[in-house]
Amino acid sequence: MRVIPLGPDGLDELADYARLTDVALRRVTEPEGGLYIAESSKVITRAIAAGHVPRSVLLAEKWLAEMEPILADFPDVPVYVGDAATLEKLTGFHMHRGALAAMHRPELPDMAELIRDARRIVILEDIVDHTNVGAIFRAVAGLGADAVLVSPRCADPLYRRSVRVSMGTVLQVPWTRMPEWDDAREILSAAGFHVAALALDERAVTLDEFSANAPEKIALMLGSEGDGLSRQALHHADSTVIIPMLHGVDSLNVAAASAVALWELRIRD
Ligand SMILES: C[S@@+](CC[C@H](N)C(=O)[O-])C[C@H]1O[C@@H](n2cnc3c(N)ncnc32)[C@H](O)[C@@H]1O
Repeated sequence: MRVIPLGPDGLDELADYARLTDVALRRVTEPEGGLYIAESSKVITRAIAAGHVPRSVLLAEKWLAEMEPILADFPDVPVYVGDAATLEKLTGFHMHRGALAAMHRPELPDMAELIRDARRIVILEDIVDHTNVGAIFRAVAGLGADAVLVSPRCADPLYRRSVRVSMGTVLQVPWTRMPEWDDAREILSAAGFHVAALALDERAVTLDEFSANAPEKIALMLGSEGDGLSRQALHHADSTVIIPMLHGVDSLNVAAASAVALWELRIRD
């Protein structure tokens, strides 16, 4: 490991960590493709297992031994080591997870390729909250869907909070950003998907009814926390499906809705 004790300032690469709260981290032009932050040895291990490459690592000294085997394949990657107070000053928060890695963002797969052999996929349209994105990925991984498509304006699955809430599953579940609706719908149709919009529409079929005759390949669409699915998304749906609500509650949180629907529509053969 290329261990570099942390001095008070002056190392350019540490800017990756100083900008931690900045969504723009993913748009940095150097390195090309941008960066994301992986937090904790567990998440860094998952990221590396998924083929992602660290640009640098930031550690409290006591985590050095644990991180050494994880970083064995990257002897040239700088590993900055400092005491808790210096790390907190740099990142702006207490690093109780011990390790942070600035990771090169992976190139996202082609949508058609990604969904070709899938039978259950989830489409996230313009979800705003990174916590919800992370929780949906966790449900997708745990309940066995094959892939996630995020709309062009959906919150970033590789944002620090999404990665953390997903328990690292954003690094395991295949996903990509889809194009605008007209193009995306063509690709979904070509791959044989039935697009089911989860929406609060009284004319919708209930999840039970839909599940009783579930199509072979389902793309389950979920809408944003505030407005739900856009008119365009609903226009492109083959079915509209509702989870009936009781006791005057109008809707579920979007991540909860994803888990209920994914469970009901799971592959049972
Ligand atoms: C909090 S809801 C949005 C509520 C929004 N006011 C609306 O009318 O759609 C976020 C997303 O979760 C899903 N959702 C939540 N509860 C649902 C339910 N009972 N039936 C179907 N979808 C639901 C939908 O995809 C919805 O777009």
